[in-house]
Formats: sequence, structure tokens, C-alpha cells
Amino acid sequence: MRTFAIAASVAALALGLAGPANADPIIIKFSHVVATDTPKGKASEKFKELAEKYTGGKVKIEVYPNSSLYKDKEELEALQLGSVQMLAPSNSKFGPLGIREFEVFDLPYILPDLKTLRKVTEGPLGLRLLKLLDSKGITGLAYWDNGFKQMSANKKLVTPADYQGVKFRIQSSRVLQAQFKALGSLPQVMAFGEVYQALQTGVVDGQENTWSNIYTQKMHEVQKYITETNHGYIGYVVIVNKKFWDELPADIRDQLSKAMKEATDFNNAQSQKENDDAFAEIKKSGKSEIIKLTPEQDEAMRKAMEPVYKDAASRVGQPLIDEFLKESKSTTN
Ligand code: LMR
Repeated sequence: MRTFAIAASVAALALGLAGPANADPIIIKFSHVVATDTPKGKASEKFKELAEKYTGGKVKIEVYPNSSLYKDKEELEALQLGSVQMLAPSNSKFGPLGIREFEVFDLPYILPDLKTLRKVTEGPLGLRLLKLLDSKGITGLAYWDNGFKQMSANKKLVTPADYQGVKFRIQSSRVLQAQFKALGSLPQVMAFGEVYQALQTGVVDGQENTWSNIYTQKMHEVQKYITETNHGYIGYVVIVNKKFWDELPADIRDQLSKAMKEATDFNNAQSQKENDDAFAEIKKSGKSEIIKLTPEQDEAMRKAMEPVYKDAASRVGQPLIDEFLKESKSTTN
């Protein structure tokens, strides 16, 4: 018996299976499209720090920000192929995968505030949406906030009529396409990493994004006006290649889940501040004029975008929209 044990450990040593101390770390490539100095950029760095700490260095997280590894569409393909293990695309980017339901988050004015959002993402509906990803070989781990979107362009956007004929860059969401069509604009799907140049060269006239994304991509330097509309939300689903995740040793998966939970809390506690700070910087720069809408102008925008709900019903289903609204309303009551 003893001889067998010694022989076995000699064989294990020869095979390089002597134990974790000598093992190569498991590499997780985490690719994303925004700057490091954004809610998602900072949260992915926080996840790296915690994951490496909790696994005692058995896992190494390589974060690739700013589309440095892949752009929007490529990164999802790369995740499915296993060339990258982790991503955090916005809710608006799952349609091309055949999962339309996340586009419900794109409906204009569907979320009055982040507290309401939390009710949805942390409730049964949020979990059910994550489960939809399984069929695509993807495991959904968490929801990370960015914040509310503003409209930017080289012309003043105050009334719905101002949007007529304006070319807007959009994310790959049909609900966002319907939103700009309802305003009479010309929406064009484009990867995030191409937006600055497209605005600079006039390929598109405007775009919608959060303050932190506008500021860190310097979009305010190539857009004369930004209208503070808060008409929609950008948030992320942190996803991992399912096969990779399922095949991790259980203790490692638990440590990574703990790191993810804490990185999520970190993200959701600081995203608002990131956006407030970016707003203040843009204002200070004086490069774009910031337009505030009166309550009447805000109401006109809401009315103009109402038809989007009907259009989205055929895409994501009326029951999902109703469930979302019911869940979010129960926060305020
Ligand atoms: C966009 O494409 O505008 C955003 O989704 C980018 C991001 O990840 O915040």
C-alpha cells in the first residue's frame, strides 16, 4: 500500500500534477469595450483584485479594456468560441445572439431610477433572464449598472421635431432602432469603439450614452450639444463561457462567485458617482452645451417615444413588458 502511494506521488510529480503550488494559474480573459475609468472598467479591475486574492493566485484575470481585444460583436463570438472567458456587454447587445428579452431594458423611460432597476435585476425576473443565456453556451453571473442615457448631437435637440432626419449611432438593439424611428431619426448600428470617429467625421450626427461613456470617449469634444434626457438605461450582464465555468473546480468557482458578488456591490455603489463626476467634467470643459429640458419638453419626448412600447411588444413580448412594469412599480408602492 505504502509503496503504491509513493509510486503514485512520483508519477504525479513527473506528470506535473503535484498540486496547486506548482500548477499554472487558470487564466480568465475579461474583455470589454469601455475605458478603465468608468463604472464597468473599475468593477472589472475590482473583480480581478478580489478573484486573484480569494483564489490565492490560482486564477489570473487579464482585463482587456477599450475594445483592445474585441469590439462588440466579435467579443460575443469570441466568448462562445472560448477565445475569451468573460465579458460584460450591455443589455442592448444580446439581440444578435438570438436573445431578444434583454432589450426590454432599452424601453424609453421604463426605469424611473436605479432602485427600481435593482428590484428587477435582483428579483426572479432578473434570474430568469440570466437563465436564457444557458442555451447559447453562456452563463450569466451578475448585473452591473452604468446609468441613464443622454442624447448628444451637433444640433440642439429640444423638441421631438428636432430629431427628424438626424443620423444616430445605436447599439445593436431593435428596441433602440424603434426608439429613433419613432422620433423620425435615422438609426445606424455601430460598435462602441467606432463611435468617436464616426461623430468626428460626420458618418453619424449624434448618439445616446451615459455621462461616463461620453466623457471617457471624449464624445463631448466632437458634439456641440448634449441634452439631459435620462430617457433610457445602460447596464451590463457579466457573462462567462458556460463550459469553462462548469468545468472549474467547485472551490474555485465559489471563490470567483464571492469575488463577483463583491465586485457587483462595488460597481453598483459607485456607478452613479462615476456618472455625476463625468457630468461635472463635461460641464467644466465647456466643449458641449448641456441642454436641460423643461417638464413640458420632457413630457413631449415621453409622448413621442410611446409607440416604441407597441413595437417592442412584438419583439420581446407584451407579458415580459408587463412583468417588468409590475415588478418595477412594486418598488415605489
Ligand atoms: C455602447 O455601446 O454605447 C455601450 O454599451 C458601451 C458600454 O459597454 O457601456
